[in-house]
Amino acid sequence: MASEAPVGVFDSGVGGLSVLGEIRARLPWESLFYVADSGHVPYGEKSPEYIRERCRQIAAFLLERGAKALVLACNTATAAAVAELRELYPELPVVGMEPAVKPAAAATRSGRVGVLATTGTLKSARFAALLDRFAGDVRVITQPCPGLVERIEAGALDGPQTRELLQGFVAPLLAEGCDTLILGCTHYPFVRPLLRELVPESVSLIDTGAAVARQLERLLEARKLLAAGPAAARFWSSGDPAELARVLPRLWGAAAAVEALPG
Ligand code: SIN
Repeated sequence: MASEAPVGVFDSGVGGLSVLGEIRARLPWESLFYVADSGHVPYGEKSPEYIRERCRQIAAFLLERGAKALVLACNTATAAAVAELRELYPELPVVGMEPAVKPAAAATRSGRVGVLATTGTLKSARFAALLDRFAGDVRVITQPCPGLVERIEAGALDGPQTRELLQGFVAPLLAEGCDTLILGCTHYPFVRPLLRELVPESVSLIDTGAAVARQLERLLEARKLLAAGPAAARFWSSGDPAELARVLPRLWGAAAAVEALPG
């Protein structure tokens, strides 16, 4: 496999762009192919079987276009499908997301950590295993966030309605004494500025985008697959390509053409 081949990254929609940004910052020579499954967003309330089918199709699409690695830039998709994709493609580096329970448990001073994530992520066996492994004596309080992904997809990153929705999610966690909040969905880093306004400065907000970029680097390095550039980025959407193109300057930092995902 050529090291100049692209890294394939996908999400249910625009959330994975927060991870794509971290990958670009860490690995600026890598070409990146991004699929937003916006015709099927949100994944958070869908069945694991449905999500696995979507992930199989998107992974096959990216591999047909020469991807040398896959990044599931979506916590819900990772919980449902990363194990299956690793079985299907045992030779391929496949990186998934994971709510940052380990660093949060190490960082908390109050012994209480809040997790903001989708219902799908919070109900998954993968999340239960993560708690078993890393929570230790720390009390982890989970908070599903229905409706938040939809607002972020619509570009409503601030404003009174998003503020009110977020306030309703963080208030119970703060009332329980959480001093560390995990952003357990790749969409949520896009409302970090608003969250920062809603929680005291002493409360840490943790996400795993940068850790995923580091893990990707490790895997590419180990297989001698790191690229030397020049880097390019291509985007596909299973929803309205014009919609993704409209938000790219704000969420990716540059305008780009978006193609329709076939099928
Ligand atoms: C969703 O599509 O509901 C959110 C995806 C995620 O968990 O990152």
